[in-house]
Amino acid sequence: MEIEKITSKDINEMDYNQLIGLIKETNRPPGGRKTVFEIINRACIDRESNVLEIGTSTGFTAIELSKLVKCKITSIDINEMSLKEAQDRSLQEGFNNIKFIKADVNNLPFKDSEFDLVIVGNVLSLMSNKEKAFGECRRVCKRTGFIAAVPMFYIEKPSDELVKNVSRAIQVNITPLYKKDWDDFFKIPDLEVYWAEKYKFDYADDKIIKGFVEDILDREHLKKLEKDTFETLKRKYTDYMFLFRDNLSKMGFCIILLSNKMIWEDPELYTSFKSD
Ligand SMILES: C[S@@+](CC[C@H](N)C(=O)[O-])C[C@H]1O[C@@H](n2cnc3c(N)ncnc32)[C@H](O)[C@@H]1O
Repeated sequence: MEIEKITSKDINEMDYNQLIGLIKETNRPPGGRKTVFEIINRACIDRESNVLEIGTSTGFTAIELSKLVKCKITSIDINEMSLKEAQDRSLQEGFNNIKFIKADVNNLPFKDSEFDLVIVGNVLSLMSNKEKAFGECRRVCKRTGFIAAVPMFYIEKPSDELVKNVSRAIQVNITPLYKKDWDDFFKIPDLEVYWAEKYKFDYADDKIIKGFVEDILDREHLKKLEKDTFETLKRKYTDYMFLFRDNLSKMGFCIILLSNKMIWEDPELYTSFKSD
């Protein structure tokens, strides 16, 4: 849709992921750059690797990955506006090793065992049928490859009101998940957690949020919006940023690298832990 033709009504009907495409927000996986860095180092990605990224949004992970390793990258999303921005950004950086494709994680248009690494970020949290989406990630991943997930979880119980508001913002009915829920989800025969690390989100105060919104909405392309449309966008986006801040203040996330167990391997008896 041409930006000049967008109305306040259109803005009011958009969910957060659609607003990201319109605003051209840099949408990152939880943990941002350090998460991408950890994943590619832990999974030992090199130039020969074939990587699939699920839910790329405006392309942050793919571009960051390409900056570090010039491997073959395919990034998918269902949101065309975000994919277009991801494509523009990667070409702007001179990267021609990333393919951005419109596709649904529930039905991936790839052959079995195509990829050395499948990065699914926090996208599983958005799926009503997480098993199906994760099954597709496993299907397209090589037997000796890795799947990297970055699931978010509540550390503190959210109020029903908060859950309702976040669900409405992202237009996904969320059921609050805790670390144990994800541990149970990934407990799958033949699959093992190869490496994992847990984080908490920093708290962004009101001043930081207001400054961020001012900066991001000052973009040239948004100046083409009608005045009342822009005001609606500003109100809605600011409300979202405060809502997500309140939500994230109760949450953490985990970077998890999963791989298939070797068929010939016996269980490890003398396990260990990191000591001081
Ligand atoms: C919060 S962003 C993801 C940010 C970051 N790349 C990550 O992995 O955490 C979620 C993205 O997933 C996309 N998405 C939602 N449902 C999807 C589906 N069924 N298949 C592929 N992408 C999907 C959304 O359009 C959005 O761009």
